[in-house]
Amino acid sequence: MKRDKVVVTRRIPGQALELIEAKAEVYLWDSEEVPIPRHVLLEQVADASGIYTNVSDKIDKEVFDNAPLLKVVSTMAVGFDNIDVSEATKRGIPVGYTPGVLTETTADLTFALLMATARRIVEGADYIRQGKWKSWGPMVLTGQDVYGATIGIIGLGRIGEAVARRATGFGMKILYHNRHRRPEVEERLNARYCSLEELLQASDFVVLLAPSSPETYRMIGEREFSLMKPNAIFINTSRGRNVDESALYRALCDNKIWAAGLDVFEEEPIAADHPLLSLPNVVALPHIGSASIATRTKMAVLAAENLLAGLQGQKLKHTANPEVYDSV
Ligand code: DGY
Repeated sequence: MKRDKVVVTRRIPGQALELIEAKAEVYLWDSEEVPIPRHVLLEQVADASGIYTNVSDKIDKEVFDNAPLLKVVSTMAVGFDNIDVSEATKRGIPVGYTPGVLTETTADLTFALLMATARRIVEGADYIRQGKWKSWGPMVLTGQDVYGATIGIIGLGRIGEAVARRATGFGMKILYHNRHRRPEVEERLNARYCSLEELLQASDFVVLLAPSSPETYRMIGEREFSLMKPNAIFINTSRGRNVDESALYRALCDNKIWAAGLDVFEEEPIAADHPLLSLPNVVALPHIGSASIATRTKMAVLAAENLLAGLQGQKLKHTANPEVYDSV
């Protein structure tokens, strides 16, 4: 019997690739950092039953149109805003994703950004490297306290909750805003639900963890930054599209807020000469929230398992569009 063909759009950890190769013919775009060119993707999906993708590929209607044999799309990510899920659903194609396995690692990175911006870690490291350190100075590189501060988490899903758990260890007061209240988390972590406006006005750290959707597009913009405290630190480890980056730049330049820690950008990669990167109070990272060796391996294996289940016509462990199973 002819084996299914799978397009794997990037080099992935060996364990995951071996799992797929045991069951299917693989076209691998074998690059660490360069995304599969669009024309190669469109050409390769023509006779493919599966696509194993990641956050940097756009899996849109054109891709689905070009892939008449497609049975499953599996992304090695918890976010699937790069995939036209409703187009997949119309065609009865399940979309796999990888929630859970990256929660703690992404929460760690979120907290690392929070600490780095508050205590000016990157500026301090540069200061030494550039030979600027003359002596201990009472006012040199003074930052903001984390311990005892107020953290406002926008989007209290798995990762938001894991960030809140870390915040309790720092004696922080926890506010959150979410689509729905989470009374159990409120009780367990002493977190208080509030409106977005109140959260923005009261928080020393505003942490954005909302998923990307048409509703959250640029949900943090000029008005939201103007509500924040002048000492506020803004952290985004969700998606760049959730923030108006020009408004963020202006808020930082006009001292409306104190600093920003960003792991995600509207355009990725962000241009090296982007104005935001010229500001010393911005700590910017190349979308590495889930990037520990162990976690990326777990994500890759889970995405492979989702893919193989889809090829075999079984339910995926995690499906972004469970409604594809409704009519079965
Ligand atoms: C995700 O999983 O959605 C991240 O952004 C990539 O780890």
